[in-house]
Amino acid sequence: MNALTSDPVTHDNIQLQSSSSTCTKKFIFRSRKKDFPDKYGTDSDSEDTETLEVIIPERMEASYGLYVWPCAPILAWYLFEHRNFLRGKRVLELGAGTALPGILCALCGADVTLSDSGKLPHCLEQSRKTVEANGLKGKVKVVGITWGLFLHDLIQLRNKVDVILGSDCFFDPVVFEDLISTIAYLLESNPGAKFLGTYQERSSDWSIEPVLKKWGLGCKHIPLNELANSCEVDLPQLLQDHTIHLIEITVQSNA
Ligand SMILES: C[S@@+](CC[C@H](N)C(=O)[O-])C[C@H]1O[C@@H](n2cnc3c(N)ncnc32)[C@H](O)[C@@H]1O
Repeated sequence: MNALTSDPVTHDNIQLQSSSSTCTKKFIFRSRKKDFPDKYGTDSDSEDTETLEVIIPERMEASYGLYVWPCAPILAWYLFEHRNFLRGKRVLELGAGTALPGILCALCGADVTLSDSGKLPHCLEQSRKTVEANGLKGKVKVVGITWGLFLHDLIQLRNKVDVILGSDCFFDPVVFEDLISTIAYLLESNPGAKFLGTYQERSSDWSIEPVLKKWGLGCKHIPLNELANSCEVDLPQLLQDHTIHLIEITVQSNA
């Protein structure tokens, strides 16, 4: 049953409803059932598959956080494939904007906090709209965390986060140092936590490696083909013509 059935349907896993200034996308995640007794928001539509739907309102205005970037569905699909791991985890999304990955985690049973820059109230408002659109008001928190600023909303997350998410946050080298210093702080103040993120390759001259090294962090690339093998998504269609990488960042033990 689809609430949003108006054309055009962008592809099999995304349905679209738009007006001149707003657009609502419904992302449909479907894959083989995991070997786990509770479903946490997923509907079992047959013996073998589970489906989860996430509604994302977008605003057609020039600002990074108001629409879904191609990195977000990739990270969300990876998380959906690891939904059993997410149950009960404390998840913080950085630079959330429309917050598809974070909302998916909440619907999979994680305790989620979304964040965006405290200096961009319209982006925080957009995250709140997504929370409401998915019936998660009062369950998912939205806070202002500006990368590189070590203020109350960041400091109070000590020992409160298991997984940090970031979709398309490495979008410009000018933010690398501020973002990575924030990730380093969160990883050091939450032992055992890890950062999972996606970034779009926009220039071969850009590299986060030197900044990660400076802050004592290491990065592992997760191959995307594991997604294509296990779930019902057309990965090339999702990637369009973009080169997107999925990474895990952790504290380097020998740093
Ligand atoms: C390219 S958008 C990605 C949005 C969303 N994660 C996605 O993938 O659709 C980058 C996001 O980072 C946020 N952002 C930019 N600079 C920031 C900063 N200094 N501190 C915190 N968030 C920031 C923007 O508001 C925006 O939501």
